[in-house]
Amino acid sequence: MKKIICTIGTRPEAIKMAPLIRALQADPGFDCRVLATAQHRQMLDQVLDIFGIVPDIDLDIMQPGQTLSGLTGRLLIRLEEVLAREKPDAVIAQGDTTTVLATALAAFHERIPFGHVEAGLRTGDLDSPFPEEMNRVVASQLTRWHFAPTGLAANRLLAEGHDGARVHVTGNTVIDALHHVAATAPDPGLGLDPARRMLLVTLHRRENFGAPLLRICDALAALMRDNPDVQMVLPVHHNPNVREVIRARFDGAERVILCEPLDYAAFVGAMQRATLILSDSGGVQEEAPALGKPVLVLRDTTERPEAVMEGVTRLVGTATETIRAAAQELLDDPSAYAAMARHHSPYGDGAAAGRILAVLRRDLLGVAIPVSDRVQMAA
Ligand code: UD1
Ligand code: UDP
Repeated sequence: MKKIICTIGTRPEAIKMAPLIRALQADPGFDCRVLATAQHRQMLDQVLDIFGIVPDIDLDIMQPGQTLSGLTGRLLIRLEEVLAREKPDAVIAQGDTTTVLATALAAFHERIPFGHVEAGLRTGDLDSPFPEEMNRVVASQLTRWHFAPTGLAANRLLAEGHDGARVHVTGNTVIDALHHVAATAPDPGLGLDPARRMLLVTLHRRENFGAPLLRICDALAALMRDNPDVQMVLPVHHNPNVREVIRARFDGAERVILCEPLDYAAFVGAMQRATLILSDSGGVQEEAPALGKPVLVLRDTTERPEAVMEGVTRLVGTATETIRAAAQELLDDPSAYAAMARHHSPYGDGAAAGRILAVLRRDLLGVAIPVSDRVQMAA
C-alpha cells in the first residue's frame, strides 16, 4: 500500500480536491491522508462538512490579516515536520494558493514526488493574478505529475519545456464536485423575491483591492439603480480587504442581499437561480458555464481562456462603464444572453478524479491504465 498526503488550504482547494480524496480513500492500494493547512478556517470547514472529509492532520495555520511571507514561512516549517514524520510516497495539492506553493517546496525539500492538480494555468503576467501566477509557475518546476485540466493547459506546460510523459490531460475536478452537488443543490433561500431577476456576485482577488474594487462597486450600484426588477446576492468573502469595502458600500442597500459565504451546495443553488454572474473567482468561471449561466469576469486577465474563446464567459476588466454596459446588454438583449447561456463545459465531464487516480495507480502501484481512463496527451 502506498501512502499519499493530499494537502488542502482554502475553500476552492477543498472543493477541487474532494473528488480525488474520495477516489483515493476508496482505493485499497492507497493510504490517503488529508492534511488541512487551514490557510482558510471557516471557509475550508464549510466545504469539508459538505463532502464528509475529516482531516487527518490540521495545521490550523490561519491568522487574521495574514501576510504572504508570514503565511509561507509558517507553512514551510509545519509542512517540513509533517512530511519528515509521515514519509508519504507522494504529496498532492491543487491550484495556485500559498498552501500549494509551500506544499510543492516542502515536498521537494523532503525529496517526495509532488502531484499538481489543475496544472498549466497561466496568464503570462506574474502580477495578475497576484501572487497566484508565481505560485503555479514555481510549483510546476517542482512537479512530478502535472494534471492539466485542458489540452491548452497541457500545451502551455510543454511549451515551457516540461516532460510530456509527466503531463496528463484529465479535465478539472471542479466539474466532478459540481456533479456531486448540482442535482440536490437547495434553493438558496436568502429571502429572494421570486419575481425578480438575480445578479450573483463574488469578489476576492488581491489585485482588485483598492481602486478596482471601488470601480466594480460603482458598476454594481449603477446596475441596481437602473434595473428595479433586479436583485443582487453577494456572499461576502472573509478577507477583511474585501469585507470592509463591500459592507461600507452595500449594507442596507435596496434589493441587495449581502450574506456570509454560502456553503458549496447553497452556492451552486444560487448559481442555478442566478440570471447573470459577475465574479473575479477562478472556480466560478469553470462551474457557471456548465450550469448554463453567463459570467462577466471582473479581471483584466484570465488563465481560463477556453470559456472566453467559446463565448460562455466574458472578460470585462474593472472599469465601471465597461462592466455596467456588458451586464446591461445581457439583461436587455435575449439573443446576447442566449449566446452565452449554452450549458457548455470547456473544463471537463465530471470524470477527472478517476483519470488522475488511474495515473497514480499506474506509477505507484504498477497497474495498467484502463482504456476508459486513458487520458488524451497534449498535442
Ligand atoms: C486565498 C488565496 C487565493 C484564493 C482564495 C480563495 C493565496 C495567497 N490566496 O485568498 O489564491 O483564490 O484564497 O478564496 O493563497 N479569512 C478568514 N476566514 C476564512 C478565510 C479567510 O477570516 O475562512 C480572512 C483572514 O483574515 C485571512 C484573510 O482572510 O488572514 C486572507 O486569507 P488568505 O488565505 O491569505 O487570502 P485570500 O484572500 O482568502
Ligand atoms: N463558492 C462557495 N460559496 C460562496 C462562493 C463561492 O462555495 O459563497 C465556491 C464556488 O462555487 C467555487 C469556489 O468557491 O467552487 C471558488 O472559490 P473562490 O472564488 O474563493 O476562489 P478561486 O476559485 O478564485 O481560487
